Amino acid sequence: MEFREVLKHRKSVRAYEQRPIPSNVLDRILATVRYAPSAGFTQGNEYLVLDSPEALADFWTLTDDPKDPIPDEMRSTLPPVLVLPLSNRRAYLDRYSQPDKAGFGLEDADNWPVPYWDIDAGMASMLMLLAAIDEGLAAWFFGISSGEKDLLERFSVPEQFKPIGVIALGYPAATDPLAITSSAKRRRRRPTESLMHRNGW
Ligand SMILES: Cc1cc2nc3c(=O)[nH]c(=O)nc-3n(C[C@H](O)[C@H](O)[C@H](O)COP(=O)(O)O)c2cc1C
Repeated sequence: MEFREVLKHRKSVRAYEQRPIPSNVLDRILATVRYAPSAGFTQGNEYLVLDSPEALADFWTLTDDPKDPIPDEMRSTLPPVLVLPLSNRRAYLDRYSQPDKAGFGLEDADNWPVPYWDIDAGMASMLMLLAAIDEGLAAWFFGISSGEKDLLERFSVPEQFKPIGVIALGYPAATDPLAITSSAKRRRRRPTESLMHRNGW
């Protein structure tokens, strides 16, 4: 698909057909993270991929937020695959302690202008979101508001990793009952001119 077409079709889809993603298609989407830029070429972030019925069921049970429970109408359209991009601050501090990077003081997390480990996880996430569209699938990035600790324990995630959110992948359902509640329905995309400050504010 042309890049412009991919962009035009990219949106958060919250309802999915109950059919698996062919493994070669999923593999291609996952492999795109290798092409993401990373500070110091650290490549320190890793990904938890959930695609078995048991793993997915446990994800939804453990992260169900008592203050914002999963709506009943969503239970029959949950995505067949979830990918959790796991940010690894420790890997970045280690990388920036190496001889070619030492001297910038970046072996200390407090000296980083912004947390590049999280930024790199976001960069890789975007590649997967766009790759999904390119493969004729849909995707959705969402946050974990409850149960993160239990979730990480359930999947034996080593303690240095922190999920920046979750990427849902799958074939879009014919209708998305939750689309109506999306901010995207209530807010417009800002025009480019309002976002850009060419040569100054
Ligand atoms: C960092 C981040 C966190 C988000 N968290 C949620 C979330 O928890 N639940 C949700 O339904 N959508 C979430 N979204 C999706 C946004 O609501 C969505 O991108 C926005 O409304 C624009 O809609 P679009 O993606 O369809 O263009 C999140 C998106 C980002 C980038």
